[in-house]
Amino acid sequence: MAFFSLWLLPILTLCLSHGVLHLEASHHVFEHLQTVSTGSTNQPYRTAYHFQPPKNWMNGQLGLFGFADPNGPLTYKGFYHLFYQYNPKGAVWGNIVWAHSVSTDLVNWTPLDHAIYPSQPSDINGCWSGSATFLPGGKPVILYTGIDPQNRQVQNLAKPKNVSDPLLREWVKLPQNPLMAPTESNKINSSSFRDPTTAWLGHDGLWRAIIGSKRDRRGLAILYRSKDFVNWVKAKHPLYSEKGTGMWECPDFFPASIKSSSGVDTSIDGPEVRHVLKVSLDDTKHDYYVIGTYSASKDKFIPDKGFEDTNSVLRYDYGKFYASKTFYDGPKNRRILWGWINESSSVSDDITKGWSGIQAIPRTIVLHKSGKQLVQWPIVEIEKLRTNQVNWPSKVLKGGSILHVSGVSAAQADVEVSFEVTKFEKAEVLDPSWTNPQLLCSRKEASVKGGLGPFGLLVFASVGLEEYTAVFFRIFKSKDKYVVLMCSDQSRSSLNKNNDRTTYGAFLDVDPVHEKLSLRSLIDHSIVESFGGEGKAGISARVYPTLAINDDTHLYAFNNGTSSVKITSLRAWSLKKAHIN
Ligand SMILES: *[C@@H]1O[C@H](CO)[C@@H](O)[C@H](O)[C@H]1NC(C)=O
Ligand SMILES: *[C@@H]1O[C@H](CO)[C@@H](O)[C@H](O)[C@H]1NC(C)=O
Ligand SMILES: *[C@@H]1O[C@H](CO)[C@@H](O)[C@H](O)[C@H]1NC(C)=O
Ligand SMILES: *[C@@H]1O[C@H](CO)[C@@H](O)[C@H](O)[C@H]1NC(C)=O
Repeated sequence: MAFFSLWLLPILTLCLSHGVLHLEASHHVFEHLQTVSTGSTNQPYRTAYHFQPPKNWMNGQLGLFGFADPNGPLTYKGFYHLFYQYNPKGAVWGNIVWAHSVSTDLVNWTPLDHAIYPSQPSDINGCWSGSATFLPGGKPVILYTGIDPQNRQVQNLAKPKNVSDPLLREWVKLPQNPLMAPTESNKINSSSFRDPTTAWLGHDGLWRAIIGSKRDRRGLAILYRSKDFVNWVKAKHPLYSEKGTGMWECPDFFPASIKSSSGVDTSIDGPEVRHVLKVSLDDTKHDYYVIGTYSASKDKFIPDKGFEDTNSVLRYDYGKFYASKTFYDGPKNRRILWGWINESSSVSDDITKGWSGIQAIPRTIVLHKSGKQLVQWPIVEIEKLRTNQVNWPSKVLKGGSILHVSGVSAAQADVEVSFEVTKFEKAEVLDPSWTNPQLLCSRKEASVKGGLGPFGLLVFASVGLEEYTAVFFRIFKSKDKYVVLMCSDQSRSSLNKNNDRTTYGAFLDVDPVHEKLSLRSLIDHSIVESFGGEGKAGISARVYPTLAINDDTHLYAFNNGTSSVKITSLRAWSLKKAHIN
């Protein structure tokens, strides 16, 4: 679970670093903000198809699941449940409960009453993140972190009150809670012990779950085992740990099929899968994952390559995306990733608009056939919202040109474009010291002319180009290959300079000599979620234009390099509004 937006960060980090009592104090700091928020009626930044609550603060995470367990009765067939961390009292973090919405298609959502809120000593000071697991017979349970009267982080269990209710409206907590707690003997840090994962079942009949933690600067995935899901015993060794990485939030651990693009249940193990460990690093506020091997006999995870170099560790998304989690959607045989995307606006702007935080579009994730990385793609259901297709024939995009994509509602759109590059002479040489793609993108923003690139899309553009967000590629020449950089440049997104305008970037593992360069962007009023290389890299950015809003938003294809590139296809759609609460 993630606590706070940047603007609260300096104060709250301080609070946390001093431990328990100050956590309490952190709630007081913003108490005056909790009641101010009314929400303004002019809302150009509310999303039309990205999930967000009607008002107030939302953050990950998310215990959620697709129905139903393929082995169990299809009691809840047809419903997806989204639980999210929510402040019922304001647009800043605090008073956290589990809000609850249901959907039949992961696109349109209906809100229900809060599912989990403080009600017993083991969660009286907060109900933080957790995960859902299906027990045999298809019965869901939720493990979550509660904050107890001493402000310790402990793990609790909740069960549906009525398993016949497909909406699972009411949840009851076990009287035995907490089921896992820091003690004198287990040496767990009571302010660094949170976010239990979905549990997996071993061949020995024991359930396992991991909980995020740290000891000094070593990040830990503390492992617990249980026969009955009620009595949990801490394993001697963590599933995995790594020094120098700081606190691990919202760990996620799951198998990915080597041969097939279908998802697999969290308990599947064997030679046909590899395992993925994702952690949300509290220090950097990014989600990182590593691929490796799970040794069930030793209950250890051995990554091919660890988390040490945060410049080169893989991320689901190289923009804003935190506290993400996956679940296995049994009926549709896929694994789906959800992430939380916070605001880039100031706290006072958040309070004025009356809300903060949205969910990324759920993404299907699979292991790439190279085995080196995951690839992700927006769930196919989102395509139901497409309307008014625009289709370009292939055309050359000369250096220095900007072409208007007309015929789509550019504030609420889905665009897919493919580029082909045939002449590489002008590609700039990649300096070996340019190892950080985000820094490289901010050094070489869209306004910096290059040899090959920047070329891509200008989204949220005003008609006079006073405002635009550029999502683009650049191609560099390195020793024995061409290197593709993908950027999302927010430096000119808005005339309002109070927003965070960090430019994001990723290296894309695509060979531009033999492959086309594809880009897809989902545009939704204050977010552009982009996928390069058919889902090899994602970059999500939040922007708040002042001119390029609603019908005054435009979309362009552009090339600000000196070489021409060819657009082999461009398809764009206006997207209809989804029902999101
Ligand atoms: C326990 O966690 C808190 C919160 O991050 C930290 O301030 C403290 O130093 C940790 N204690 C130890 C012994 O690691
Ligand atoms: C449980 O849910 C089912 C289906 O909604 C309903 O018919 C039944 O009355 C509920 N039982 C109780 C005890 O509320
Ligand atoms: C939220 O946004 C801010 C500012 O844009 C960023 O710096 C911060 O790290 C984000 N927080 C999280 C938890 O993602
Ligand atoms: C293209 O480059 C020129 C020169 O650096 C710059 O003035 C212009 O703003 C750039 N265009 C875009 C769309 O960034």
